[in-house]
Amino acid sequence: MYSFVRLSLNLLSLFAWASSSPLFKRDNTDIDILQFALTLEHLENAFYKQALSKWSANDFAGANFSSNFYTQLQYIVHDEEEHMVFLEQTIRAAGANPVQACTYNLPFTTPADFVASLATFEGVGTSAYLGAAPLLSSKQYLTAAAAIMSTEAIHEAAARNAIGEIPMANPFATPLSGNAIYSIASKFIQSCPSSNAKLPFHTYPGLNLTQSSPLSVNSSITLASQGSLSNSTQIYVTFVSGLQIISVTGRASGNSVSATVPQQISGQSYVFLTGGNSSNLTDSNILYGPAIIEVTPSNHTYNASSY
Ligand SMILES: *[C@@H]1O[C@H](CO)[C@@H](O)[C@H](O)[C@H]1NC(C)=O
Ligand SMILES: *[C@@H]1O[C@H](CO)[C@@H](O)[C@H](O)[C@H]1NC(C)=O
Ligand SMILES: *[C@@H]1O[C@H](CO)[C@@H](O)[C@H](O)[C@H]1NC(C)=O
Ligand SMILES: *[C@@H]1O[C@H](CO)[C@@H](O)[C@H](O)[C@H]1NC(C)=O
Ligand SMILES: *[C@@H]1O[C@H](CO)[C@@H](O)[C@H](O)[C@H]1NC(C)=O
Ligand SMILES: *[C@@H]1O[C@H](CO)[C@@H](O)[C@H](O)[C@H]1NC(C)=O
Ligand SMILES: *[C@@H]1O[C@H](CO)[C@@H](O)[C@H](O)[C@H]1NC(C)=O
Ligand SMILES: *[C@@H]1O[C@H](CO)[C@@H](O)[C@H](O)[C@H]1NC(C)=O
Repeated sequence: MYSFVRLSLNLLSLFAWASSSPLFKRDNTDIDILQFALTLEHLENAFYKQALSKWSANDFAGANFSSNFYTQLQYIVHDEEEHMVFLEQTIRAAGANPVQACTYNLPFTTPADFVASLATFEGVGTSAYLGAAPLLSSKQYLTAAAAIMSTEAIHEAAARNAIGEIPMANPFATPLSGNAIYSIASKFIQSCPSSNAKLPFHTYPGLNLTQSSPLSVNSSITLASQGSLSNSTQIYVTFVSGLQIISVTGRASGNSVSATVPQQISGQSYVFLTGGNSSNLTDSNILYGPAIIEVTPSNHTYNASSY
């Protein structure tokens, strides 16, 4: 814990130095990304603190979570608080006003729901930091984002383990764009203070999975879109999983579309309806999404004979 605090203070003084140095060019995109990261950290903080103030160690034990996992939850919540404070200080050091917490719709009603949501949220957080990484122009901010991202991935692994999902279901984490992340996060945000900086992201029309998760590869998936689908043009179902973006033809009817889950999809993955099958997931191609899905990884083999 001490070393973590020391690291954040060191990075912070680096930023404080950087922002007052004439050599440092403050990039507004960087600040927008830090504000976006803070928006997500506020959401996580509200989410986790509400759950932990509502349910005791006994409630988690009653839901069959180990006391060891309950201890880990305290660390997770502490980490998220540190991320929030760190981002606030970093944004201030860059001369901007950190966005404030909003009011939220929290999606869980039981400890088991909460831990499943925690696994999903931490996966989304990891995807958010990873997707934003190439947009950052400052290498110091990039290092800080990677440091936070790694910790989000550890949280995700602990929560997946606690609900019986393989933590390392994919050799690669999944990067997602700011608009895709904002589409997911905004469902949980009721309203924000009007003084908050406006973020340069927008949402896509919604898409929901209409069956229970986890899914298997090669099985059929049916999704409901928040609007009717043209039946004169081919709709594609585009899966994003690790570094793979795979489009398959969708069978559309009304606002429902079905497709087959491609073999390459594994672990927490994202699904969009797209107008084309290019793996170029840009605004002009995305119609609806993302829906979040969980796909059971296949049993893996490896070849140890060369060692
Ligand atoms: C906890 O586990 C026990 C033993 O496997 C089982 O009987 C019980 O239904 C489980 N409780 C919950 C809330 O899952
Ligand atoms: C999925 O289907 C492909 C071919 O269609 C097959 O090669 C593969 O073994 C299947 N995978 C699973 C896990 O069923
Ligand atoms: C998706 O599910 C949410 C929550 O149940 C609901 O509010 C929303 O309208 C649904 N959207 C679609 C496109 O079905
Ligand atoms: C599909 O197209 C036909 C012919 O244009 C139309 O009558 C029908 O309502 C459409 N169905 C849906 C679900 O949009
Ligand atoms: C992509 O769509 C084009 C037509 O829109 C089609 O010719 C091509 O075969 C499709 N490719 C794949 C991999 O589905
Ligand atoms: C993706 O599409 C956008 C516009 O739709 C285009 O500007 C960009 O070059 C494309 N990227 C790739 C890798 O094809
Ligand atoms: C993976 O292996 C486990 C046991 O080793 C087995 O129970 C399970 O059915 C296997 N899953 C698949 C998809 O082959
Ligand atoms: C495993 O690796 C060894 C050494 O590289 C190679 O000779 C062998 O063919 C591999 N076996 C399989 C099943 O891939």
